[in-house]
Order: sequence, then C-alpha cells, then structure tokens
Amino acid sequence: MFAVPSKSSRHSGQRHGGVSFVPPSESGSKLTNPSQTTTSLGRRRKVALAPGHSAVDWEKSKGQEDLRRINPSDFPMRITKAQLKQHHTKNDCWMAFNHKVYNITNYLDYHPGGREILIENSGTDAIQLFQRYHPWVNYERILDACFIGFLV
Ligand code: HEM
Repeated sequence: MFAVPSKSSRHSGQRHGGVSFVPPSESGSKLTNPSQTTTSLGRRRKVALAPGHSAVDWEKSKGQEDLRRINPSDFPMRITKAQLKQHHTKNDCWMAFNHKVYNITNYLDYHPGGREILIENSGTDAIQLFQRYHPWVNYERILDACFIGFLV
C-alpha cells in the first residue's frame, strides 16, 4: 500500500514514506486534487506509523490524559500570533486552523503524513497547507481534545 521508510528517511525531514517529499505547490500541479498526494510512482506519501498509533488508538488516547497541556482555568485561551510562534517543537507543538489553536504535541506520532511536516509548520495557522493536502479530513473532530483557544 505504501513504502516503509528506511531508518534514515524517517528522520531526515525530507523524505516521507520512502519517497521524495515534494509539496503539491512545488510539484507545479493544482492544489486540491487528491490524486496529487501520490508521487510520480503512484505511491502515497503516508508514513509508517509506530505500532499503537492508528486512528483508533488516537481516539482511545484522548480519554487517557489532558492533551491541551494548559492551565484549565485559562481555557479557552486568547492567543497572539507571537505566542503561537513560540510553540514549534516536538515537545511543545501548537498549530492553528482558521484561527482555532490546537496543542498537537500528542498527535504528532499519530499523523499519517508524518510528524516532521507538522513540526516544520507548527507555530502558524496552517489551514492552507492542511486544505492543500487533505481537504476531506475533519481536523475539528480529530483534534477536539487538543483545542486550546482562539488566535486574536
Ligand atoms: C494537525 C492537523 C492534521 C490532521 C488532524 C491531519 C490528519 C491527516 C490524516 C487523517 C491523514 C490521512 C488522510 C487519508 O488517508 O485520506 C493525513 C495525511 C497527510 N497529511 Fe495531515 N493532518 C494534519 C495536518 C497536516 C498538515 C498541516 C500537513 C502539511 C503541512 C499535512 C500533510 C499530510 C500529508 C502529506 C499526508 C499524507 C497524504 C496522503 O497519504 O494522501 N497534514 N493527515
């Protein structure tokens, strides 16, 4: 179904799913055609998730710990762009979509497109990239337990 990345490719941040990573915009093709999530070899760019990191596992994990990682009395937060920018690492990773901010730290290892692409774009409002890669994905449902507040 998809290639298993070699050890080196999994950590380079340049290769996903064992094939070169070329964002749709740079491949010269239109953004919203789902067929463009395949490479020229016809392979999808999904990465191999570690055991225990399926979509079902993610749903189960939601009830097990506080994924927001903020002071509950601050919820929902009002977050500036400058604040958002400060959370851009694998251990502290925030991302906004349409002005709604999510702490996606726990989700990183469950993302079928790999953690690197999320970390690279964290600390920003990534709605355009999100829509470019998978407009059919319902992020509000997947990340409901990670919602922390609004970008102001
Ligand atoms: C944090 C919010 C996000 C969620 C919940 C999410 C969820 C998903 C899901 C469910 C898939 C599998 C899609 C399918 O099989 O149809 C996927 C694949 C993928 N995602 Fe995301 N994603 C997020 C953010 C992003 C962002 C910001 C990018 C790009 C910067 C991205 C790039 C990709 C890529 C390249 C794939 C593999 C494409 C494919 O196999 O067709 N994702 N994502």
